[in-house]
Amino acid sequence: MDEAHFRELCDYLGFDAARVGSLSGVLGVVEPAFPKIIDEFYAMILAHPGTRRILRSESQVGALKKSLLEWMSSFFTDARDGAYLERRNRIGKVHVQIGLAQVYVFAAMGLVRDRLAAAASRIPDAKGRQAYLAALHRGLEVELAILADGYMEADKYRDLIENAPEMIHSVDREGRFLLVNGTEQRLLGYTLEEFQRLRIDDIVPEARRWEVRSHIQRVFEHGLSHVETQFITKDGRVLDVEIHATGQRDRVTDRIVATRAYVRDMTERNKLQQTLIAKERLSAIGGMAVTLAHEIRNPLAGLSGALQVMERAAAVQKRETGIYAELQGQIRRLNRLVEDLLQYGRPITLRSQRTALGDLVTRTFDLLREGREFKDVALDLRGSARETPVMIDPSVLQQAFLNLFLNSAQAIGGNGTIRVGVDREGDGILLTVADTGPGIPAEAAGRLFTPFFTTKPQGTGLGLSICRRIIEAHGGRIDVKLDGTPGAEFRIFLPLEAA
Ligand code: HEM
Repeated sequence: MDEAHFRELCDYLGFDAARVGSLSGVLGVVEPAFPKIIDEFYAMILAHPGTRRILRSESQVGALKKSLLEWMSSFFTDARDGAYLERRNRIGKVHVQIGLAQVYVFAAMGLVRDRLAAAASRIPDAKGRQAYLAALHRGLEVELAILADGYMEADKYRDLIENAPEMIHSVDREGRFLLVNGTEQRLLGYTLEEFQRLRIDDIVPEARRWEVRSHIQRVFEHGLSHVETQFITKDGRVLDVEIHATGQRDRVTDRIVATRAYVRDMTERNKLQQTLIAKERLSAIGGMAVTLAHEIRNPLAGLSGALQVMERAAAVQKRETGIYAELQGQIRRLNRLVEDLLQYGRPITLRSQRTALGDLVTRTFDLLREGREFKDVALDLRGSARETPVMIDPSVLQQAFLNLFLNSAQAIGGNGTIRVGVDREGDGILLTVADTGPGIPAEAAGRLFTPFFTTKPQGTGLGLSICRRIIEAHGGRIDVKLDGTPGAEFRIFLPLEAA
């Protein structure tokens, strides 16, 4: 409470210097009742589990009795000035800090009021008694208002802390949670009750627990520490976090009793950074690949031409020509690698136009139908968004579809059905390409879109990387189903409007 508000309150309740005079004038008569009132006050606190657990030890009760005695005496004697208000505000703050619910303060004040009023019987003259009682009730209203104000003040800060953009918590030396703000409860998925049963160790991956333990130790020893580690959410997601903590000191002993920690979720930022690094690396590789591919293409063409001449000569002499076919096969393979490399390294420029994805899928499949790998492959195209126009470059996106369909056809050994779904999702289209092949081996899953990674003996390892580049150039995303069931399913999200 500020001083202006305090003055207004005293005015409103009619509590002025004269009232303080009515109290101090009878102090000598009423004071002998104080020790018993204070004993009753603490008996009441100790009798109730809600208030009892606030107290840490018997010795604290002794100190508190002294505090309350001082409080009572100063209530009778002290001028209601700025310094008085400051001391009273502090009591309110202490109660909020120790987590004492407001209702107990009201109950305790009720007891104090009751017993001090009863002490009026010690005042011999009726006028003095009346003046005392009037001053007592008004004075205690002021005290209660200041204590209650401490809670209102705290409420303002509570929202700031509870809903801060960052996670905030406090743990003791053993890592038990003492306090967890709303943001941390929401992000990690645990309720406050669940947190109260957990230690910080329980939400850190095993391999990194030592890191967090020594961080807490540093806070207790040096008063502050900083650590980058990981938290596991209730549903098993791993978050990269950065914790900055300081030590919270006991008001009486001045010893650090808990950490005060600010935790920032760095997962998205780290992911972004890694993607950026990967992109930079890939674009460097891409640049080099294009140069190399250009250099290789010409000698390859020369080699192929020379071989054809030799093959013809061999045919004339009726010699074995199988070896020439084999050599031509190998050259074709090298050519494909060179073409893929060129395509992978070339910057993608889009000439987007509104296109229905269903049509593009059918056209792409028609192109492939004649190929050896597609002889017994059927297309099953479904979904409510087949006709929905999407801003894409059909000739560029077709290349991605070609690669995906080729993959699927190879996975089912050229015999079976490729299922394609085209459906609305949010502000875009979700296109799924599924086959009934063996599925993606778990160990391959994480590297599927990495250049030069392939599980096929004849593959260049660039098909899916090219796909991803094309889809990302359209502002979309591609990923793959990884639930361990057979059959691969690629999921492509494309925004309706170009990014
Ligand atoms: C009329 C109601 C109350 C009054 C006037 C009162 C007064 C005080 C005063 C004067 C202090 C010392 C503050 C300081 O260090 O500056 C204090 C602290 C404290 N009060 Fe109260 N109190 C009231 C109700 C309660 C209740 C109901 C509890 C229940 C447990 C309680 C528990 C405490 C504790 C634990 C501290 C000390 C914290 C610490 O120093 O570690 N108080 N109170």
